[in-house]
Amino acid sequence: MSGPLVNRRIVFSGLGALGVAAALAGCAGSDSGDDGASAEVDAGAELASTSEIPVGGGLILTAEKIVITQPVEGTFRAFTAVCTHQSLTVTSVADGKILCANHGSSYSADSGEVEGGPAPSALSKVEIDVSGDKILAA
Ligand code: FES
Repeated sequence: MSGPLVNRRIVFSGLGALGVAAALAGCAGSDSGDDGASAEVDAGAELASTSEIPVGGGLILTAEKIVITQPVEGTFRAFTAVCTHQSLTVTSVADGKILCANHGSSYSADSGEVEGGPAPSALSKVEIDVSGDKILAA
């Protein structure tokens, strides 16, 4: 049940889903030991409903470390919510950008590419399926 959600990232075998929750509690620290991978989510798991994702905005799932966006109406994208700068969780989505207020990085809510700030690389894409009004892990 593991695998495809963590795209082009090192799968971090020492930190399972429970460890991620613990790591989040300490996310203000600069050395969380987190390598930036999203938590692994079983394929088919319901992540959100489409009504929770505003057009131009998004929803940050802090436990799963996934950010889901809707850059244009009816188009949903998902990325790791772990900023590529210092592996803190991104903080908001607005006006088509995923923002990390920790140090001011911003990313495209459509592609995950860096648009500003110190982030060195894009957010990795997370595969999702939209089924009716549900957004599922793919
Ligand atoms: S951790 Fe996101 S900008 Fe520094």
